[in-house]
Amino acid sequence: MCRDQDDRWLARTLELARQGAGRVEPNPRVGAVIVKAGELVASGFHRNYGSLHAERAALSAAEPDLVRGATLYCNLEPCSHRSPRKKQPPCTEAIIAAGIGRVVIGHRDPNPAVRGEGIRALERAGITVDVRGEDADESPFLRENEVFNTVMALGRPFVHLKAAISLDGRLATTGGDSRWITDGEARTAAHRLRAESDAVLVGRGTVEADDPLLTVRLPAGEVQGSSPAPRPVVLDSLARISLESRLVRERGNELLLCLGPDAPERRRAALEARGVTVLEAEGVGGLDPASVLKCLGTAGIRSVFVEGGAQILTAFLRARLYDRLSLYFAPILLGRGREAVGDLSVATVVQALNFESVRWETIGRQQCFTGLRAGWQEEILGVLRESERERTKGGPQCSRD
Ligand SMILES: NC(=O)c1ccc[n+]([C@@H]2O[C@H](COP(=O)([O-])OP(=O)(O)OC[C@H]3O[C@@H](n4cnc5c(N)ncnc54)[C@H](OP(=O)(O)O)[C@@H]3O)[C@@H](O)[C@H]2O)c1
Repeated sequence: MCRDQDDRWLARTLELARQGAGRVEPNPRVGAVIVKAGELVASGFHRNYGSLHAERAALSAAEPDLVRGATLYCNLEPCSHRSPRKKQPPCTEAIIAAGIGRVVIGHRDPNPAVRGEGIRALERAGITVDVRGEDADESPFLRENEVFNTVMALGRPFVHLKAAISLDGRLATTGGDSRWITDGEARTAAHRLRAESDAVLVGRGTVEADDPLLTVRLPAGEVQGSSPAPRPVVLDSLARISLESRLVRERGNELLLCLGPDAPERRRAALEARGVTVLEAEGVGGLDPASVLKCLGTAGIRSVFVEGGAQILTAFLRARLYDRLSLYFAPILLGRGREAVGDLSVATVVQALNFESVRWETIGRQQCFTGLRAGWQEEILGVLRESERERTKGGPQCSRD
C-alpha cells in the first residue's frame, strides 16, 4: 500500500474519532477503518465512554470474510491490556482473531499500560504494523487527543492559558477594570473553551476584582456537551477569598480552593463549612504551579482552563507548565494598565516562549491567537522513546476504559 493511500485512510480515522468528542472522555477519541484492495470494508469509532473501542466497532460492522487479510487503520495504537477498571477487552485480541493482515496507526498510545505493547502483541501474531503519524512536525494525530496524551505521557492535567487583552497587551486598566475588553462573540468562544475543560482556574486577585462565577454560558440551544460543568478553581495561598464572593456563596459545593501551608485553620474551616473543597498546595509567596497541578490531578481534573489574572498567567508561563495559550486581541488601547504577562526570565529572543500549531482567527472584532507550547509534541514522543528503552520495567495503571 502506498504512503498516500495510508495517509488518506488515516485522515478518515481522525474524522471518525472527532464524532466521539465530548462523550468518550476520559478516554481518547478514536476512529478506525478497515480497507481491502483499496476499498472501504467498514468503519467505526469510539462513541461513548465504556462503549466498544473503535477497532471493535469497525470489526463488528464488517463482513468477516472481507476482514481476513485486510488493513485496519486507526489513529491510535490498539490497546492490549486488561485491568479491573477497564470496561472493554484488548482490541489486539479482536484484531488478531479477525485475521487482519496489516495495521496502520497514527501514533503509539502514551498510556503507561500500552506504550508499544499493542504493536508488539500484533507483531507477535504475524501482523505488520506501521506507525505513520509521529514523524510529521505538527502531527494532527497527537494533537487530536492533546488532553489524553498530556495526562498519559506527562502525568499532569493539560493546561490551557487564556486571556483577553488590548492591542497594547493589557488585561485590565490600572484600577483593575477588565469588563469587557472583548465583545460578546469572543466571550462566547471563550465559554466554549471553558466547556471543554474539567476546571476553570483564576487567582484570588481576579475573584476580588471581578467576583466571577466561572460558569459556562452559551447561546440558548447550543449543545453544551455531555461532560459535567467545569469546576471552578481559585489559587489563594492564605484563604483570603471573601465568604461573600459569588463563587463561595453560589458555587461553594463545586469550588476547589488551593491553599498554601500558611493558610489559617480558622479561615479554612469557615470555607469548608460552606462546602468548599480545600486542596493543600505547596509554595510560599505564591503557590507552586507544579504542586497545584498535582493537587488538581489527584482531584480528578484532567484539563484546566487558566483564565488569569496576570500574576497567575505569569506563574504558569514562568514555570513552563502550560500546553496551549489562547489570546484574544481586542481592537482597543488601554495605555498604562495591567500587563497581561510579567517577567518570564527571557534574556534573548532565542529564549522566548514559542508556539507551534499556531492558528489566528477573526472572531467578532478580535484577532484570536491559539498555539501549542513549542516542544509539546517532542516531549510526548520523548516519553514514548524513553519507555521503549525501559520497557522491561513495566508501567502503572491504564485509564483507557
Ligand atoms: N482580561 C482578562 O482576560 C482577564 C482575566 C482575568 C482577570 N483579569 C483582570 O486581572 C486582574 C487580576 O489580576 P491579578 O494579577 O491582580 O490577580 P490574579 O492573577 O487573578 O491573582 C493573583 C493572586 O493569586 C494568588 N496566587 C497564588 N499563587 C500564586 C502564584 N504562584 N503566583 C501569583 N499569584 C498567586 C496571590 O494571592 P495570595 O497571595 O493571596 O495567594 C495573588 O495575589 C483584575 O483586574 C481582573 O479584572 C483580566
